[in-house]
Amino acid sequence: MGGGLSRHELAAAVSDARGLGTIAVNGAGAIRRELAAARALTGRPLAVNVLLPFSRRDWFEAAAEADVVVTFWGQPRRRTGGVWLHQCGSVEEAQRAQAAGADGVIAQGVEAGGHVRGTTPALELLERVRAALPAGYPVLLAGGIAGRDDARAALEAGASAAVAGTRFLLTEESRAHPAYKQRLLAAEETILTELFGAGWPAPHRVVANSATEHWLSGRRSSLGRIRRSKDERREVRGPLTNRALNHVLAPGTRYLPDTLQARMIRAQRPDSRLLTPAGPTDDAPATLVDAGALYAGETVARINEIRPAADLVRELAG
Ligand SMILES: Cc1cc2nc3c(=O)[nH]c(=O)nc-3n(C[C@H](O)[C@H](O)[C@H](O)COP(=O)(O)O)c2cc1C
Repeated sequence: MGGGLSRHELAAAVSDARGLGTIAVNGAGAIRRELAAARALTGRPLAVNVLLPFSRRDWFEAAAEADVVVTFWGQPRRRTGGVWLHQCGSVEEAQRAQAAGADGVIAQGVEAGGHVRGTTPALELLERVRAALPAGYPVLLAGGIAGRDDARAALEAGASAAVAGTRFLLTEESRAHPAYKQRLLAAEETILTELFGAGWPAPHRVVANSATEHWLSGRRSSLGRIRRSKDERREVRGPLTNRALNHVLAPGTRYLPDTLQARMIRAQRPDSRLLTPAGPTDDAPATLVDAGALYAGETVARINEIRPAADLVRELAG
């Protein structure tokens, strides 16, 4: 979980309990620091996640020191000599990753939290990806996994492993802002949107806050597509002007110096037209809880308590 929501505390706790913990931070220095801090806590394997739209060469040099590198959102290309997994949202993307030499793929379903590449339910995508790739090729499953039954269903359907994000956001070790965690505990539903797309115009799943209330409620004429699929999955892309601006400005916004990006995040308010994808970490301005993206997957409706990560790993694997 990117932007520093998952750092050494969470990754080490998950790995130490015999899951594979993943660090997701921006910048080569931060990757090295978090990996070293996690190594000090556990001798078990660790993963580093790299978001391809933002990555730079030195991020990969730092990430290659992890046992596993997981990439997401972009043209799959081998950038490490070690184990490489690529998270995919379609059969075609999984085939491209396999052809590019990925050691395995993560099939991400549309129910997932954070940025959502998948457009079909996870188990459906799993079946199609497995059918399209050679027998025995590792296909992991992400999206909708929060408890033992979910993990078991994924493995029974042929997944090599179960991947969970949202459930681990609500742990003692995750670096989500405490108020963000409380909002998720209270949430009953999610919205798939493109609202928080400044610098990264891509669909993401969030729970409602003041920013979504401001931009996505009662403005139907300018919202773009509003869709409720047959199973009532809510999808509201956001006002056309915001989305157009996000697309036009993305290359510039993405490469702003860190200090300017930090200023944009500090200045972000629920009614800002440019809403960055920065998640409310516990060291981010508290204003982001209402002005930023409260990323969460559909399992949020079933999660009612914050728990230690190790307990969850044991439950999921049980
Ligand atoms: C808060 C949050 C942040 C995320 N950030 C990233 C990220 O930086 N990189 C990535 O590959 N996936 C990211 N994801 C997606 C996860 O890798 C995974 O697909 C998703 O969490 C699975 O669905 P679930 O949330 O239902 O468990 C994020 C998910 C959440 C909930």
